[in-house]
Amino acid sequence: MLTFAHALIHWQTQYGRHGLPWQGTNDPYAIWVAEIMLQQTQVMTVIPYYQRFLESFPDVECLAKAPIDAVLALWSGLGYYSRGRNLHKAACLIVERYQGRFPQHAATIQQLPGIGRSTAAAIAAFAYGERCAILDGNVKRVLTRCFGISGYPGEKTTETLLWQKADALLPEAGDKQQMAAYTQALMDLGATVCTHHQPKCLSCPLQPDCVAFKENRVASLPTPRPRKSLPSKETTFLLLINQDKILLEKRSSPGIWGGLWCLPEREIDHNSQVSSPPYLEMDAVPVANLPPLDHAFTHFKLRIHTQLLQVTSRPCKKMDRAIWVTIDDALQCAIPAPVRKILLKTDFQQQLQTD
Ligand code: ADE
Ligand code: SF4
Repeated sequence: MLTFAHALIHWQTQYGRHGLPWQGTNDPYAIWVAEIMLQQTQVMTVIPYYQRFLESFPDVECLAKAPIDAVLALWSGLGYYSRGRNLHKAACLIVERYQGRFPQHAATIQQLPGIGRSTAAAIAAFAYGERCAILDGNVKRVLTRCFGISGYPGEKTTETLLWQKADALLPEAGDKQQMAAYTQALMDLGATVCTHHQPKCLSCPLQPDCVAFKENRVASLPTPRPRKSLPSKETTFLLLINQDKILLEKRSSPGIWGGLWCLPEREIDHNSQVSSPPYLEMDAVPVANLPPLDHAFTHFKLRIHTQLLQVTSRPCKKMDRAIWVTIDDALQCAIPAPVRKILLKTDFQQQLQTD
């Protein structure tokens, strides 16, 4: 059976992209310029800009000597101009620090402005055949799917895992051409086969071993960026106790928990000491505050405070949508999950004795 690397390299010779203007050279400068332009811009858009740029600035010295305005003029239309500014800054550094000789290893290349770990690796793999892994957005997509790795790839732990995976998958040391072919293959597969929408799994060389394909998880990988944290609200439930019974109220519908039996609710008021709910027309004294309970809805989080109250007057008889029930009966009613939790967690005997 072919290894991951061999399957990709084999696929690349037949189906990969060939003849792009930055391929077929091992000049690190020419490759560097291409990789920077390709960071946020499509291949077809990049080609004419790349050709003009290399004609105007054929090597590091030329670029370093050029006024920044001339560099930015040639970048005009590509967008993300800090890429152009960093390119010029790095060219000056290469001239100053390395006498114009482009650094020879990914680790050194990465120290130049505008070059991250993946771009440094791509340059070193293409120019020198260095055995180092790339991990751009396309590669992350291929790896998360192929190995069924869930977790947002922008998150540190997932990213660390993906780098480890990318390192472990590299072809064995040897032929330098092989590293370039492998790196190009990964990029091409991500760009043309394992695409974000409607990947072409049936023509994918990795399909026989692809976890996402096997487990029907292609559409859910990579895991999307987590949603912004939900807004939070607070409320207070009143757990009114009259002998062995508690008060449940039927919630109006529509609304949260519409139609379910719930503990009477009131808006949070942290300052209030005693709360005898006037609308129930009875007197009650607070016995205890239960620990807050957090409950997550689809669109917000709710922190529920619960106040235990002992009813001290005759409880009102005429109640429209409320009932006095034992805890056991309450648990048989249609009650929302947090109310069930509160009832199950509360030690009523103890709470009432501490009064
Ligand atoms: N995207 C980033 N680098 C690339 C390359 N060398 N060829 C094609 N697309 C790329
Ligand atoms: Fe991507 Fe499909 Fe290939 Fe798996 S089989 S790597 S999901 S294109």
